Amino acid sequence: MGIKILTEFIDLPDLNRFEVYRKHGGYEAVEKVLKNDTPDHVLAEVKISNLRGRGGAGFPTGLKWSFIDKSTDKARYLICNADESEPGTFKDRYLMERNPHLLIEGMILASFALGVQQSFIYIRGELFYVLNILEKAISEAYAKGFLGKNILGSGFNLDLYCHPGAGAYICGEETALIESLEGKRGNPRMKPPFPAVSGLYGCPTVVNNVETLASVPWIVKNGGEAYSKIGIGRSTGTKLISACGHLKRPGVYEIELGLPVEEFIYGEEYCQGIRNGNKLKAVVAGGSSVPILPANLILKTAKGEPRLMSYESLQEGGFETGTMLGSGGFIVMDETTCIVKNLWNFTRFYHHESCGQCSPCREGTGWMEKILHRIESGQGKMSDIDLLADVAKNIEGNTICPLGDASAWPVRSTVRHFRTEFEKHLIEKRCPYIK
Ligand SMILES: Cc1cc2nc3c(=O)[nH]c(=O)nc-3n(C[C@H](O)[C@H](O)[C@H](O)COP(=O)(O)O)c2cc1C
Ligand code: SF4
Repeated sequence: MGIKILTEFIDLPDLNRFEVYRKHGGYEAVEKVLKNDTPDHVLAEVKISNLRGRGGAGFPTGLKWSFIDKSTDKARYLICNADESEPGTFKDRYLMERNPHLLIEGMILASFALGVQQSFIYIRGELFYVLNILEKAISEAYAKGFLGKNILGSGFNLDLYCHPGAGAYICGEETALIESLEGKRGNPRMKPPFPAVSGLYGCPTVVNNVETLASVPWIVKNGGEAYSKIGIGRSTGTKLISACGHLKRPGVYEIELGLPVEEFIYGEEYCQGIRNGNKLKAVVAGGSSVPILPANLILKTAKGEPRLMSYESLQEGGFETGTMLGSGGFIVMDETTCIVKNLWNFTRFYHHESCGQCSPCREGTGWMEKILHRIESGQGKMSDIDLLADVAKNIEGNTICPLGDASAWPVRSTVRHFRTEFEKHLIEKRCPYIK
């Protein structure tokens, strides 16, 4: 059994209640910090831990916090990104539903480190029942003196509000999220300026993922150095992986970074292999936005080394033969899957969710969807394969926000690794997977 930082007590009945969380060491990190430590000390521990953002990009959390502009007398804000709409990703929901106080404790510690007095959880609107759980936990934290004025007599004040979104994937992008929180349409902003300089209401703002913030109490309690020793290389700590698709045992797993992918897919402790004894065909390792890899390249790198669940190992080989850890949404497909249909499905999603500000994304996602529909339904031409790859190439890098890239990477990687499957559709003039 690997170390559990986020899920040690997750199966305890009523862990979402203050007393149960408290009985198992909850809020001890806040007590310790407010009695003995300075904000700079907390920031230093997070830096030493090498914790990286768990929302998708893997940006070092301590470094992000250190960008906060402390030279102005403007308010500073902390926003927890709980939008979690990336297809295949369902780990933040699990954490908030089962252990909401862990997130609240992480937000108190982060707010203390950043000099924040008002903080927000921006939660995906569809997760209405989780919103209720969070609001109840927040009320308990206020009642017990862990939120509000003069927390534990330390002079530190913090308010925490929940704000549900209205169900747009783009509102998970941090600047679209900020626009939405300000009451506007959730359109991403041009960067720079980055939120650390000009975020919510034009003030310095940090946006962090649920899992990132929930990792902070352990770091504060046990020290950044202890955290930095868990994991592998620059991929420190543990990561929640939401595994779905054709697995015997799908679910949310907390793994130590560095675990071999093969052990994760086939190991007794984890997913226990592919359903019905079928063969593994492909994996999308980090949510629908990252490049797809065929079975051979997800289990081993092109150099023949075992592929590990870490930022670096999954990226080994670049986009030619590698992928990304992303949000940890691990989508597994067996030999019965039509890869073209899967890509059509993903692309339909990106077309639907494009905010429409940039022409390459607004128009290109629609064109890719049309071409894929044509190929899947047996109406395509051989030249459609290169046309598809060409449209994707022209979206990549040419848009305001990364949703454009997120729509292009699955297309480019699927064409790269599964060209023969597109050709089969075009030669047979039908989907070979429809019996
Ligand atoms: C289209 C799009 C959707 C995103 N959705 C989410 C999301 O649901 N949750 C999340 O934490 N980050 C999401 N992100 C990443 C955020 O912009 C941001 O990088 C992240 O919240 C930062 O937190 P972290 O540093 O703790 O990872 C999304 C990015 C894009 C481009
Ligand atoms: S890339 Fe797409 S989603 Fe992002 S700003 Fe441009 S049009 Fe909107």
